[in-house]
Amino acid sequence: MRIIETHAHLDDPQYAEDLDAVVLRAKQAGVEKILLASVTMRDIDKLKALENRYPGYVYTMIGIHPQEVNAASYKDELDAFDRAIADGKYIAVGEIGMDLYWDKTTRAEQEIVFRHQIEAAVEINLPIAIHAREAFQPTVDILREFDKTKLRGVLHCFSGAPENAQTMMSLGDFYFGIGGVSTFKNAKFTERLAEIPLDMIVLETDCPYLAPTPHRGERNEPSFLPFIADKLAAAYGKTVEEIGEITTNNAERLFF
Ligand code: NI
Repeated sequence: MRIIETHAHLDDPQYAEDLDAVVLRAKQAGVEKILLASVTMRDIDKLKALENRYPGYVYTMIGIHPQEVNAASYKDELDAFDRAIADGKYIAVGEIGMDLYWDKTTRAEQEIVFRHQIEAAVEINLPIAIHAREAFQPTVDILREFDKTKLRGVLHCFSGAPENAQTMMSLGDFYFGIGGVSTFKNAKFTERLAEIPLDMIVLETDCPYLAPTPHRGERNEPSFLPFIADKLAAAYGKTVEEIGEITTNNAERLFF
């Protein structure tokens, strides 16, 4: 089957020992391309090195994750972001967004950093990969400031209601990244998932986190994507091959 992995963290130290084997298993599972999400500018060289190590297979996003934002360092991070994006080629800006789950005290700085990175993406016409945790409305409020004809991207790790998806689609050309959470026994959002057009769905692992059932709790990796595709096949009444084909085409349209 065909698959594109739209959100992975293969720079995580958990892959230091066996990354070649992880990539080989991904290829054997049908994964055609892997997109790496960026979290902090401290690691951007490491991500680029992975792209060079697997040319034409691994692609790098650039972004500062909202959990990395704090009052003391955010200006330096933004300066580093501006420098890196000016001299490199990236597949998208991400992961960026708002996270009020862990820390509400950095909300003002998170908004500044999110807005700055959207502006950069719009300026060079790149899609954005959005992380929104306990922060759907604040995320929407910022996206609404922008010209919707210039915004495109993915809301990563989506587990919301179809109404939230509708809101996102009204703000730009937004897709929804479905990952391992969809396979968890208590995942209620999958009951109404099919109300979201399949043409707007892409696959992701967010590995090493959130491994799908039956690997829940283990280190996640792109070769587990077929378990997520299986869940989508059941939700949409399609074969797993059809899910692979359609979501691969969606990812191609958005990112390539
Ligand atoms: Ni992530």
